Amino acid sequence: MKFVLLGYMGSGKSTVAKALSNKLHLPHLDLDDYIEEKEQMSVNKIFQTQGEIYFRLQESKFLEEILKMDSELVLSVGGGTPCYSNNMELINRFSSSIYLKGSIPTICQRLRNEKDQRPLIADLNDEQLTEFVAKHLFERRNFYEKANKIISIDGKSLEDLLTEVTLTLKEYLK
Ligand code: S3P
Repeated sequence: MKFVLLGYMGSGKSTVAKALSNKLHLPHLDLDDYIEEKEQMSVNKIFQTQGEIYFRLQESKFLEEILKMDSELVLSVGGGTPCYSNNMELINRFSSSIYLKGSIPTICQRLRNEKDQRPLIADLNDEQLTEFVAKHLFERRNFYEKANKIISIDGKSLEDLLTEVTLTLKEYLK
């Protein structure tokens, strides 16, 4: 079985995926890290030098490559991954997917300190960030909500989330 953690930037996908992979004794892959390794370039640099469309094409290609691997794993994907090409369809065909759903204030609070590594929001001030996230979440919600399971992250610690995710996946873990 493959498990995919998805959600907006800052929702803790990679952290929860890592913890889940430890708990289930499965390997963890992060799609952004995988792209960076394959392209020998950071996501930031790919956006800057090759542009977002190139990034989205590579993202889709490598997502499919991972999902078709003949091994069980936990995969965290980028915030935009579910919203392009037929990515969400592929995710649900080859894995069990979990959307880590955060409210606008939760997401903004988390992103304020880590904007610099994220090309889409690096140049925004606090007010612009809130507006950007609100609009973006509205646009992306329909894609995220196609996930098999939805878990709210608001006010929860990593430990809480891990317990909830594991419980939610019980049916696949027997
Ligand atoms: C993006 C999210 C990023 C990364 C890229 C684009 C997005 O991943 O894939 O910067 O479109 O939301 P994280 O969600 O892991 O930050």
